[in-house]
Amino acid sequence: MIAIIEKLLNEQVKYEALASMQYLAMASWADCNGYNGVADFFYNQSEEERMHMTKLVKFVNERGGRTIIPSLAQPKLEFSGLSELFSTFLNSEETVTQHINEIIYECLKHKDYNVHNFMQWYVTEQLEEEALARTLLDKLNIIGDDKSGVYLFDRDILEINLNKDE
Ligand code: FEO
Repeated sequence: MIAIIEKLLNEQVKYEALASMQYLAMASWADCNGYNGVADFFYNQSEEERMHMTKLVKFVNERGGRTIIPSLAQPKLEFSGLSELFSTFLNSEETVTQHINEIIYECLKHKDYNVHNFMQWYVTEQLEEEALARTLLDKLNIIGDDKSGVYLFDRDILEINLNKDE
């Protein structure tokens, strides 16, 4: 495996792990603040990111590289409300996308079509997750301070989880 690509894939393991821990912290915050639907949503997202991370770990090791399991900084624990929670979600996904794009760039530069092909799954995943984060943030902006709107948002987000699990 090309050294720079191996390094970037290892960094990607860390970004996916950070996203997983951040979403776990967000799920826990939502749980403690009475947003059970939002909590389920982020518990689920946290699991997905862990799966993204593990997929990378296995890929690097299978291709003769070596994964270095990273240490992680503490995620953000406190949020002013759902808008900040979902802004954090969108920012996190945008950051992950940027790093994936860097990997794609290096793959093309070094003609590593094998890793390029593997990374296409992540490109598609990021498109979906960023779109979802934007949609949810748009909904929250419409709802504003309307308490019954927030109640319905927390209830309806459960549907997204159910659809994702199908
Ligand atoms: Fe795996 Fe949503 O980044």
